[in-house]
Amino acid sequence: MLSDTSETLKQLFKDRNKRSHNAFKKAQNILPGGSTREIIFHQPYPLYIRKGKGCWIQDIDGHRILDFLNNYTSLILGHAHPKIVEAVKSQIINGTSFSAPTEHEQILGTAINERIPSIESIRFTNSGSEATSLSILAAKAFTGNKKIAKFEGAHHGTNENTMVSTNPSLKDAGPKEKPNSVPDGPHIQPNILENTVILPFNNQRTCEKLLYQNREELAAIIVEPVLGSAGIIPPKEGFMQFLGEITEKNNILLIFDEVVTGFRISRGGAQEKYRVKPDLTALGKNIGAGFPLGAFGGRKDIMAQFEPTRENRIHHSGSLNANPVSLKAGLTLLEELTNENYRKLSEQTSNVVRGLEKIFSEQRIDAKITQSGSLFVVHFTSEKVIDYRSAMREDTVRKFNFFLGMLLNGVMIAPRGLGCISTPMSNRDIDIFIQKVVESTIYLKER
Ligand SMILES: Cc1ncc(COP(=O)(O)O)c(C=O)c1O
Repeated sequence: MLSDTSETLKQLFKDRNKRSHNAFKKAQNILPGGSTREIIFHQPYPLYIRKGKGCWIQDIDGHRILDFLNNYTSLILGHAHPKIVEAVKSQIINGTSFSAPTEHEQILGTAINERIPSIESIRFTNSGSEATSLSILAAKAFTGNKKIAKFEGAHHGTNENTMVSTNPSLKDAGPKEKPNSVPDGPHIQPNILENTVILPFNNQRTCEKLLYQNREELAAIIVEPVLGSAGIIPPKEGFMQFLGEITEKNNILLIFDEVVTGFRISRGGAQEKYRVKPDLTALGKNIGAGFPLGAFGGRKDIMAQFEPTRENRIHHSGSLNANPVSLKAGLTLLEELTNENYRKLSEQTSNVVRGLEKIFSEQRIDAKITQSGSLFVVHFTSEKVIDYRSAMREDTVRKFNFFLGMLLNGVMIAPRGLGCISTPMSNRDIDIFIQKVVESTIYLKER
């Protein structure tokens, strides 16, 4: 349910974005929802983008927009980074894919292993969804077990094994001590629900009980170490270590979904930050610097199941897997992500978070900001956000009005309040962001 303010904002948006509206109408004739990606749809319609450079983008109506979303956290170096453009060009003129491997695959694999040592052996994919899907497949084959445990509110991409309880209503979610397996849609079959154990994030006691009850049948726990789509919710002190210990003790594999956190929240991702060594890791988003690239990897004995010469192997092919253009972009990205860059990102994010807290406190607007590395989320609630359910209890009307108000003021964040910093941002860009937040609070006063 939206408010009068929401309706006013939507009308202002429509008045300002006529070309995007036209593009949306035309696109709807051929594409359900007007594009190929559910997450980028929002009311009244998304902006269609003409170009981007650094941390600024331009839509087809000609507005310049400060990009605090970076293709949903994927572009830590921003748009059209000169080194990425150069690297990609140098590959494109030499061919874009072959019926044979290139050396880039081994070079990037080794560079990833140097940063994330638990990835002893790796394979590349075209997306994060494939990376999580193949990690689960590998865990099931390795253990011979059919069940997977995942966290309520966690999104692991478009693969049916994890499309359970990603965004359940609080009414359907079931008791706290035993969350229901709620299908993400009509395509999820009952056998998937039966084989998915839903865990509450940051609740050690309940996780312990549910994992113990299902230990004989569980292949793996898949976890986003920082619960992303539910609102960048960091783990409580010791929670990741607990998952490491309980999985090891019960012969359950631990899969870290680092599609968002990998190379984002620190040089070695969440596993470096929380000092836990998962059995398998899925990567995506940032790793391709804007090009389609994902990866999964981990223990050598698990990954050896993909050896083509093995009689009882897991088949894994893909015509564009490990395409050299994406690999070149990934390699250049890792070279560019220096410790100095991480230090600057972290300092700027702290300034943003402090700025947001100050504004909302001065204006007496109930809000909590969650943060990890260069990622942050604004939650309109007075409650501490520690898991999916606490995030779901926030004021969604305010959230929408904040998002659309910011966009009208020339700043892009996600409708769910997600924002992130990229390396081309200057302190001046951070000041502009803070100023636009101040201007947008007017939309948070009235309902
Ligand atoms: C944590 C997480 N895992 C997996 C995925 C799927 O990645 P992709 O969109 O590249 O398929 C996403 C995408 O948003 C994600 O946030």
